Amino acid sequence: MSLSMADLFKRITSGVYVVGVAAGPQRNAFTAAWVMPVSFRPLMLALSINPKHSSFALLREGGVFSINVLRRDQLELAGRFGAPADTGKLSAVAWRTGKTGAPLLEDALARFECELAGECPTGDHVLALGRVVDGVLLQPDAEPLIYRETGDLDGASGLFPDGF
Ligand SMILES: Cc1cc2nc3c(=O)[nH]c(=O)nc-3n(C[C@H](O)[C@H](O)[C@H](O)COP(=O)(O)O)c2cc1C
Repeated sequence: MSLSMADLFKRITSGVYVVGVAAGPQRNAFTAAWVMPVSFRPLMLALSINPKHSSFALLREGGVFSINVLRRDQLELAGRFGAPADTGKLSAVAWRTGKTGAPLLEDALARFECELAGECPTGDHVLALGRVVDGVLLQPDAEPLIYRETGDLDGASGLFPDGF
């Protein structure tokens, strides 16, 4: 367990997102913090995803994903979508299908829709590159949830090595 390493990496400030994926009739969504913009033209975002997640197969098969930006008061949702797929995550919230087919949360600060434009292996994760094809700022005055504020919700302290 490396609490100090997890604490160190939480100083790289990021938000907290619910990432939606879809392939055919199947939908899933999971919480992610490792998301960042990577290009202005074309507009692109990158998402680091553990290939062991159920969502990864759907991402590969469907080739689309959504990024739903969580507000500061949505920590409970971050925990819910951090659970495995068989917990019926989407059945417990209001969502709709976006133009890419990916699920969009009705209640979010903002959202983006992306088409998978490439991927790159990154150690125990895969960096998925998304071309942004749609997006909306739903609540311009709301504060985003910051990853550091989620404590050890993702269990990262048990995943980081103890040293360099
Ligand atoms: C705050 C938080 C941040 C997370 N960030 C990521 C992330 O950036 N990438 C990732 O692959 N998993 C991340 N996870 C873990 C997944 O949300 C979790 O393993 C989930 O169960 C995967 O769902 P799935 O198996 O239904 O796809 C995070 C979890 C939490 C609670």
